[in-house]
Amino acid sequence: MDPVQICPSILAADFLVLRDQVQAAESGGAARFHIDVMDGMFVPNISFGFPLVQAMRRATTLLLEAHLMIVDPDRYLDDFAQAGADLIIVHQEAVVHLDRSIQHIKQLGRKAGVAICPATPVHTLNEIIEEVDQVLVMTVNPGFGGQTFIDYTLRKIRELRELLDARNPQCEVEVDGGIELHTIRAAYQAGAQFFVAGTAVFHNVAGPGAGVQSLIEAAQG
Ligand code: DX5
Ligand code: ZN
Repeated sequence: MDPVQICPSILAADFLVLRDQVQAAESGGAARFHIDVMDGMFVPNISFGFPLVQAMRRATTLLLEAHLMIVDPDRYLDDFAQAGADLIIVHQEAVVHLDRSIQHIKQLGRKAGVAICPATPVHTLNEIIEEVDQVLVMTVNPGFGGQTFIDYTLRKIRELRELLDARNPQCEVEVDGGIELHTIRAAYQAGAQFFVAGTAVFHNVAGPGAGVQSLIEAAQG
């Protein structure tokens, strides 16, 4: 099976000691960092924007992915690329012309990801599946950290894995939301390779490094 790649979501980090937390997560084996951008419109919560991406760019050399939970993300793709995001993820539900958004991200020289909410079927990506570098399957409704993993999304991960094996095997399958010690293995077995985790990494009592390590072990079983 593919290696387990943990992507800590800094939404759950302590921002006052962010550099320390990032370094600890890296020492624990984090693959990359996940930055949740929320606008209070597409999702009922506001998080952070460009300054945090820029700060993260100074804090780590690992890949940064920006998960844009914002209305009409096309307006800001250039700015997120400029701020230092290597992979830019737009929501299928937030854009009108998904193909245009994906091409735009690629023209910026960045990897293009598309996220789907729990209630959005995998088949809505059928026509553009060869064009994307990553599909992010939301395993909670976007907007907040610390929510409970929605079990029916496992079916979607399996369906996506099959689709990608047939048509775009290089494309990454990432899951996001409620990834904990007791949920990660099922998502891994269903076909995910990249696991976003906020609470399970940054609220681990032994620190973010231990949080990352214990998730990798739990996935491998
Ligand atoms: C939810 C975000 C997630 C969130 C995950 O809208 O996209 O990335 O930070 O947090 P946990 O791991 O706590 O569910
Ligand atoms: Zn996210």
